[in-house]
Parts: sequence; structure tokens; C-alpha cells
Amino acid sequence: MTMDKFIIQGGNRLEGTVAVSSSKNATLPIAVAAAILSDSVSIIYNVPRLQDVNSMCGVLEVLGAKTYLDEATLTIDPGPHDAYEAPYDLVRKMRASIYVLGPLVAKLGKARVSFPGGCAIGPRPVDLHLTGLEKLGANITIEHGYIVAEASKLKGADMSLRGPRGSSVGATGNVMMAATLAEGTTTISDAACEPEIVDLADMLNAMGADIEGGGTPIIKIHGVKELHGTEHIVIPDRIEAGTFMVAAAITRGDVLVKNALPHHLEAVTEKLTEAGVNINWQGEGAHVTVPDKLSAVDVRTSPFPGFPTDMQSQMMGLMSIVEGISVITENIYPDRFIHVSELNRMGANIRVEDSSAIIKGVEKFSSAPVMASDLRAGAVLVLAGLAAEGETVVSRVYHIDRGYEQIECKLASIGADIVRIP
Ligand code: EPU
Repeated sequence: MTMDKFIIQGGNRLEGTVAVSSSKNATLPIAVAAAILSDSVSIIYNVPRLQDVNSMCGVLEVLGAKTYLDEATLTIDPGPHDAYEAPYDLVRKMRASIYVLGPLVAKLGKARVSFPGGCAIGPRPVDLHLTGLEKLGANITIEHGYIVAEASKLKGADMSLRGPRGSSVGATGNVMMAATLAEGTTTISDAACEPEIVDLADMLNAMGADIEGGGTPIIKIHGVKELHGTEHIVIPDRIEAGTFMVAAAITRGDVLVKNALPHHLEAVTEKLTEAGVNINWQGEGAHVTVPDKLSAVDVRTSPFPGFPTDMQSQMMGLMSIVEGISVITENIYPDRFIHVSELNRMGANIRVEDSSAIIKGVEKFSSAPVMASDLRAGAVLVLAGLAAEGETVVSRVYHIDRGYEQIECKLASIGADIVRIP
């Protein structure tokens, strides 16, 4: 963990072409599948170089796999499949470590994974992961802060993975991975439809799994005896793409966001368009141009294909400096508003009521020293800094590095004045 800072001189209009890296949230479970479920080597291409990917490789190494990251190519040798414990020290660094639970119990009949705690964006329960695996026949107990799951052989089952706030991405991925090696057929109804789940299903099928319906609310997994290594190219990161689209909008710029996929970003495109941003989808990606005046729009986050919670803070940054009042309602993580107080320190006028933020547009941000407290909450501070008058210092940049590959270099390449200082 580094204590780097970003120094941003605001006010530059962003212009040019920026390329989006591959998806963090697709890469993480894909690496798990390759390391734990497979009996031979996999090669994953276009892997983003991110702290979270390093953390996941750390977890997989402890579980006996060998991981080699060369530029954007990750080679995973599953190893002997004899370790089944993901310790607290690693899991607490990254909640996505919970993804090893289902695959371990499916492959080894046993898993011991530290219970992930809460995090800066609020409580994040894992009950659906556990009930899903129990439906497959795993016996689950909690001891000394660890989840222990055991099963001599998982058996296919029917289940819904819908929680109080919609379907769970993580539980869908976890159960889907486990069910590939179960006996018989598993049907997940109310499955998460996120593109990262589709990418994981594609990876698993290439490894020899038999999964139908990825990307729809009903996923059917017919169990197979074993899975083998494969080669896979990870999908682009739709949240990074959306973040650059907002970066263009917030600086009233003219930017081609390359490698972005339109069907991953329909809700974001719709809301930005409603605010007055021009988005022209071309073969290469999204060409974003911006008139002088943008207007306030209301946004409600929801599971895919709705407006993503991971774009909520960035949209709030943009709404902070448009004319009018907008209401942003957070339906996935009702407490995900830690960015609000820092944005207000930069001159925004935002008030939180229950799970909604009411944003009264102001003319501009004024620069300030601010602190990133989580990945997306950090991203919006960079965006605000780009639009602010004067010098903004963003500290605790390691939160941003968890999910954005060299964001400062990419932004500088399209005209931002941003540098990293150690
Ligand atoms: N939920 C439950 N029980 C569970 C699991 C989830 O009630 O067992 C609830 C959560 O509390 C939340 C909702 O269901 O209200 C959705 O959570 P989900 O399980 O879908 O989220 P996740 O799998 O933990 C992934 C991303 C998040 C992203 C969410 C929602 C990864 C590694 N993480 O988390 O990404 O916000 O889906 O789209 O894929 C980020 O990248 O910044 C990030 C936080």
C-alpha cells in the first residue's frame, strides 16, 4: 500500500482518445476459476494491472496455485489443489476473496475462508453466497471468524439468489462456479445479469463447463466431472469507461473513450444524454462531446441493466456543477455516500436524506485537499479536481489504484494536468 497523492491543476478541457482497460470485476472471479476449478494451465489476456488483481493472485498462491503476470497476460497454473484456507490477512484486503469459497468446496470438498467484514461503502452481507452453497449440499459453519464449508459431493439444486436489494453478483458467480462441478443440474433464478457474470460463464464454458443463460435471470448449470485450462480475453471495464465519459462531460471536453461497449453502458449513456451530453457510439467506442450547458437529471441505481452503483459517485460529481437540482438514489448500498462530505468541501451543495442525495448545482468546484476513502469515492474526487479552479490534492490514492489502471497517465494523455507524487 502506497501513500501516493495526486496533484491536479483543474480547468483543462479533456480532448483526445483514451483506451479503457479490461474489467477488474470480471478478472477477479475468472482468475479464481482458472486457479481452483481447473486441472491445467490457463492463460488470461488483457488483464488490468491493478492492486486488486495482485491481491487476488496472493490469495490464489496461498491456495497452492502459481500465478505469472507478464504485462497484461496472466498465466495461472492451478498446482496441487491441496490447500483450502483463505486467511484473514488476505481476505480483509479484498472482499472479492469470498469468490474462492464455492470453487474450493466444489473441488476439494472443504473450504475455510475468513468472513469478510464490512467496508467503507456500508454493510456487505454474504448470506446469499452461503445459502446458495447450502442448497448445493454444503454444510456451512462459522468458527473463529471463518466460514467453513464442507461437502463430500455437491449436488445440483434450484435456487433464487435475490436479496432485499436485487440479485447478488458475487453470490451468482460463487454458486455458478461451484455448480460446474456438482452432480446434476443447478438452476439459479433471479441470477445477476451483469456483463462480468457473462464473461465468467464464457470462461467456465471454455474450461469445459456446461452453463446456459449467462446474462439472463435464469442460469442453468449442468455439472461436469472436471474442468481444464483455457485461454480467455477479459471484457472491457464498463465502470472505467463510464468514469472517462463523465471526465469528458465534467470538463466539457471532446473525448473518444475507446474499447467501451455500448450494450454495457446503456443506462449511463441514457442518463448522460438526458443531462445534455452528446454520446456518439462508434465502432471504436463512445465519442463524448459536451455543450456548454448541462442540466440536472435524477438517477436511481439498480442492478444491470440499470444505472450501476459503481457510477453513482461520478454522476454525483457531474450533477454538482450543472444547473438545477438532481436527486440520486442509491438502491444497492444505501450508505454509499462517503464522497459527499469531500465534494461539499470542494464547494458542492449536496444533502443526504436516507438513501438519496439531493444535489443543488453550483457554478464550479473550488480546489481543496481531499482524501479518497474508497475506490469510487476516490474516483469522483479526481473528476472534481479536473473541473475545479486551482490545485486539488487527492490523498490515499491507493484506493483508486485498486480499480483504475494508471488513471493519472490516461487522464494526462487527454490533456489533464495531474501528477502522482509519492
Ligand atoms: N447482498 C446480500 N447478501 C449477499 C450478497 C449481497 O444481501 O449475500 C446485497 C448487498 O448488500 C447489496 C446487493 O446485494 O445490497 C448487491 O451486492 P452484490 O453481491 O451484487 O455485490 P458484490 O458481488 O459484493 C460486486 C462488485 C461491486 C459492485 C456490486 C454491485 C465485484 C468484485 N464487486 O460486488 O464493485 O458494486 O457488485 O454491482 O465484482 C467496485 O468495483 O467498486 C465494487 C464495489
